Amino acid sequence: MQGFNKYRPFNPVSLPDRQWPSKQITQAPRWASVDLRDGNQALIDPMDVEQKLELWDLLVDVGFKEIEVGFPAASGPDFEFVRRLIDEDRIPDDVTIQVLTQAREVLIDTTFDALKGAKNACVHLYNSTSTVQRRDVFKLDKQGIIDIAVRGAELVLDRVKANPETNWILQYSPESFTGTELPFAVEVVDAVTQVWSGHVNSPIIVNLPSTVEMATPNVYADQIEWFCRNVARRDELCISLHTHNDRGCAVAAAELAVMAGADRVEGTLLGNGERTGNMDIVTMGMNLFSQGIDPKLNFALMDRIIHTITKVTNIALHPRHPYAGELVFTAFSGSHQDAIKKCLDKREGEDFWDVAYLPIDPADLGRSYQEVIRVNSQSGKGGAAWILQHNYGFDLPRWVQVEFSASVQAEAESTARELSAEELYALFCERFMQGATKIAIHNYSIQRSDSADQISVEIGYDHVVRELQGDGRGMAEAFVDAYAQVSGINPALISYAEHSLGTDTDAEAAAYVELSIDGKRYIGVGVDRDLSVAPMKAILIALEQAQALAGVFGEQVALSAN
Ligand code: KIV
Ligand code: ZN
Repeated sequence: MQGFNKYRPFNPVSLPDRQWPSKQITQAPRWASVDLRDGNQALIDPMDVEQKLELWDLLVDVGFKEIEVGFPAASGPDFEFVRRLIDEDRIPDDVTIQVLTQAREVLIDTTFDALKGAKNACVHLYNSTSTVQRRDVFKLDKQGIIDIAVRGAELVLDRVKANPETNWILQYSPESFTGTELPFAVEVVDAVTQVWSGHVNSPIIVNLPSTVEMATPNVYADQIEWFCRNVARRDELCISLHTHNDRGCAVAAAELAVMAGADRVEGTLLGNGERTGNMDIVTMGMNLFSQGIDPKLNFALMDRIIHTITKVTNIALHPRHPYAGELVFTAFSGSHQDAIKKCLDKREGEDFWDVAYLPIDPADLGRSYQEVIRVNSQSGKGGAAWILQHNYGFDLPRWVQVEFSASVQAEAESTARELSAEELYALFCERFMQGATKIAIHNYSIQRSDSADQISVEIGYDHVVRELQGDGRGMAEAFVDAYAQVSGINPALISYAEHSLGTDTDAEAAAYVELSIDGKRYIGVGVDRDLSVAPMKAILIALEQAQALAGVFGEQVALSAN
């Protein structure tokens, strides 16, 4: 592709004794939501105050204790929103609101006006430190950038001292940290924390943004480990991450950087944010959850999260979005469906989740198993069987599954789309229960002995009634024998299965029979409250498919059946 040679590779960090690759994440980090600030700044139509309030309620209910609520010095609606949160007493005591400000006096003053009266508040000061911003945007040398940061830190400290009624937390971000030489990033941060240390609550939050994701996630982890080793006053600092998703690795970068020593992670629910977005807290949190770590956020509210975020951002959710998308727990492929079905069938009573193709239990996110398996032309026998079992109670024996899947495949291919549960059931009835309503078993008696069962039965088909007698091992065999005796054909019972369609004592029974007639096979499924009647119905249905009713019921009935 033309043009690649105008780019340069990112310089790796020299850290031969890096420790993070052998670390493991064992607990959730401190989370901070920036949905209402970074997320909002990235929208085509930024949220109005009412939308922000709706999102605020969601963030509180999901369990965030640190929420960046806006940039009140830069935006009227943000200022009004912060005031409403405080004036209307909407902030729970254990939640800290955070606001962003640049290091300019007038902006810092407006920021403190917005926060007046807050119980707990975090002032988030930032200025850009990267090589490109120093050279082309600010046209300042390193000392000029340090001066901006230090002056801002002093102004903030001054306002903190003047407003002692609030419990203040201070945060500093060397914006564009990933594009900043590491020794210089440390120099700027040290200069800021020197101003604040000993005068403000500890820990001070030092947020190290991957404002633009410029390298592989391991490089960001190296940057964080290097920074943590070299920064002054590490014990007084909370190292925070803020990764953007330009290369599609914001979550991975945050995860590796937590392994590298970070304590706190900023991001947004479902990843809305500048350009390709902020780090998605749903994904990172659910990744922890799937490893047996409590994320300390309530993602069981997933439907509400999706509803609110898509509404206030006016951005649709991708159906394959990790954990949240409509299709992420759905299998269409036959082999996947088969494996999922087998694992779920044997799961009962097991402590740990170990299901092929499903990294987590969809039920933990309020998803139903109905959504797990959906059927189209890619699906095999397991999928349609699963749907019939979970929606209608039919536990199809393998030999029925094989037959049914051929019909499903043909239907899915001819319609060229997914088949719904209702459509599958209709197809099943048409294929294996055709004529069931015409069958009536009026009277029957069974005499059981060790060697064989003898039956005598009065059967009706389409109002024509006949009496039959026969014997065999079990009800089905005896009925086939009875039929053979008067029909002049000789069906052989190849396979038989039965089960109850529910757990109640009066639940119906389903019987499945496979008959061989003149070398061809026919399957019928009979359903009845009486477990002895269900197989007789199944056999008559199979006989009807073989067009073998005439011998007993006469030509007229045979015609009506076909
Ligand atoms: O991406 C970024 O660098 C930011 C800072 C203001 C923290 O959003
Ligand atoms: Zn950002």
